[in-house]
Amino acid sequence: MEFQQVVRRRRMVREFAPDPIPRGVLERVLETGLHAPSAGFAQGLELIVLDQPAQIEEFMTITDPWARKADGRRGDPPVIVIPIGNVHTYLARYSEPDKQGLGMNVPEGWPVPYWDLDAAMSVMLILLAAVEEGLGGWYFGIFHGEAELMRQLGVPEGLHPIGAVALGYPTEGEQRRGSGLWRERKRLEEALHVGRW
Ligand SMILES: Cc1cc2nc3c(=O)[nH]c(=O)nc-3n(C[C@H](O)[C@H](O)[C@H](O)COP(=O)(O)O)c2cc1C
Repeated sequence: MEFQQVVRRRRMVREFAPDPIPRGVLERVLETGLHAPSAGFAQGLELIVLDQPAQIEEFMTITDPWARKADGRRGDPPVIVIPIGNVHTYLARYSEPDKQGLGMNVPEGWPVPYWDLDAAMSVMLILLAAVEEGLGGWYFGIFHGEAELMRQLGVPEGLHPIGAVALGYPTEGEQRRGSGLWRERKRLEEALHVGRW
């Protein structure tokens, strides 16, 4: 598929068929995420993959115990990936000789948390790779239960997920939902500030 076609086809898919994702397909999609740029080539991305029904169930119960249950849990994805930008990897990388003196060996020294930014870039690639494989992808925030979830998954102290990515084949009747239904895409002229704001 052409790049522009992949970009334009991508949208958040929020209802999934129960069909599993073949291991090779899933690995291709996730490996694509490793081709994202990263600050200092730190590559601090960590991906927790939940692909067992009991794990998906537990994720749903911890992170959204009310809303998703109200929906009857129809269309749960077969796979949920939790991307984490490992802050410790970045602080270690920016303590190396070529990065010394920047003051970025402590979290407060960073203009923006590049560990989260880099993880987001990887998520974008994962969402695009999913399109190429005929999969649907859905990035969403974790608004509830993050601490409990991290504990359950054995994630080391001080690490935070940037959200979650659901992956799976869309159901036949799956239709666009969410804000994209009623909000129009910006035109380039609306975003451009050539020379100055
Ligand atoms: C940072 C970020 C957070 C988002 N959080 C959620 C979320 O919590 N739940 C959700 O259903 N969609 C979420 N979305 C998806 C957006 O609603 C979606 O990208 C937007 O409406 C445009 O639609 P499209 O991606 O289908 O083109 C999020 C997207 C981004 C980039």
